[in-house]
Amino acid sequence: MAPNLSHHIISEALFLLLVFQALFVKSESQFSESLKQYLEAFGYYSINGSSLTDAFDDSLESALKAYQQHYRLEATGRVDSETVKIMSIPRCGVRDVFDNSNDGVKFSMVANYSLFEGMPRWDKRRLTYKFRSSAHVISVRRLRPIIARALQKWAVVSNFTFREEGFFGRSDIVLGFHRHAHGDNFPFDGPGNVLAHAFAPQVGMLHFDADENWSSNNLTRSNQIDLESVSIHELGHTLGLGHSRDPDAIMYAYYRPGSIKRDLGQDDIDGIRALYSN
Ligand SMILES: *[C@@H]1O[C@H](CO)[C@@H](O)[C@H](O)[C@H]1NC(C)=O
Ligand SMILES: *[C@@H]1O[C@H](CO)[C@@H](O)[C@H](O)[C@H]1NC(C)=O
Ligand SMILES: *[C@@H]1O[C@H](CO)[C@@H](O)[C@H](O)[C@H]1NC(C)=O
Ligand SMILES: *[C@@H]1O[C@H](CO)[C@@H](O)[C@H](O)[C@H]1NC(C)=O
Ligand SMILES: *[C@@H]1O[C@H](CO)[C@@H](O)[C@H](O)[C@H]1NC(C)=O
Ligand SMILES: [Zn+2]
Ligand SMILES: [Zn+2]
Repeated sequence: MAPNLSHHIISEALFLLLVFQALFVKSESQFSESLKQYLEAFGYYSINGSSLTDAFDDSLESALKAYQQHYRLEATGRVDSETVKIMSIPRCGVRDVFDNSNDGVKFSMVANYSLFEGMPRWDKRRLTYKFRSSAHVISVRRLRPIIARALQKWAVVSNFTFREEGFFGRSDIVLGFHRHAHGDNFPFDGPGNVLAHAFAPQVGMLHFDADENWSSNNLTRSNQIDLESVSIHELGHTLGLGHSRDPDAIMYAYYRPGSIKRDLGQDDIDGIRALYSN
């Protein structure tokens, strides 16, 4: 019966709205504003002086559609349940979409992996790294073997080799834990949502959000974030890979707490080889 049906639809919509608000909205009158900030943070929407209002306008609808297309959801342009389900999973802070340089488009049309705008890459294959944190979460002694294994995942499918540099040495890659604002323009957000981020070549900065419940053994609980899994993903950015649309790829932006995902997918291997094949 029509009244029941619409009642059901309304309560589902209300429920999703509440889920979304609980996750992202600081004040309940700012639903669209928060959605805009979410979509902007990940590269789908551009906020400027006049656009950060709580209006659900056409540009927000088309940004939402682009997001839904990226994640292979039905492009409804509405915040439906499938969209909220994905948005509520924690993820990497790096943007999904990059301004379309011609080469980027050429690659993204045929593959799931993506490369950064202008396809930046390292011009050497021997890279050095070191640890430097502003927040204490896991000791370097425990971090060292985890990062070494994560680097090895990439080394075996590429010509890269990695060597740890001493504390005072100059290194290509610097990895560490930080919380909230930490000196780049991408402050972390406390527990949940954004877990980590890393920069395209040849910046080499790789940051973990100190406020997550990181797991550094092999006993990752359902509420924890497996440090090794996320490290492999972030190192992919450090080497020049963007986000993949393939949920099985290491470079997929979302990470389900409790999961262990430590093997490169074929798409990741295709991506690194495409970037460094010549
Ligand atoms: C401001 O943002 C809106 C929505 O993204 C966009 O349509 C508009 O062109 C932007 N204006 C400027 C001046 O960038
Ligand atoms: C992209 O990923 C989807 C989903 O995993 C897969 O079905 C498809 O074959 C992949 N495409 C390419 C070109 O690898
Ligand atoms: C490694 O380097 C060699 C020679 O430069 C090149 O032929 C080969 O394709 C590279 N392998 C990978 C996996 O990038
Ligand atoms: C992190 O997760 C573990 C395992 O579930 C739990 O015992 C611990 O209390 C959590 N720590 C924080 C700070 O939430
Ligand atoms: C976790 O598993 C890896 C790979 O199987 C192993 O090399 C490592 O020693 C284990 N770490 C701990 C703390 O048990
Ligand atoms: Zn990422
Ligand atoms: Zn950072």
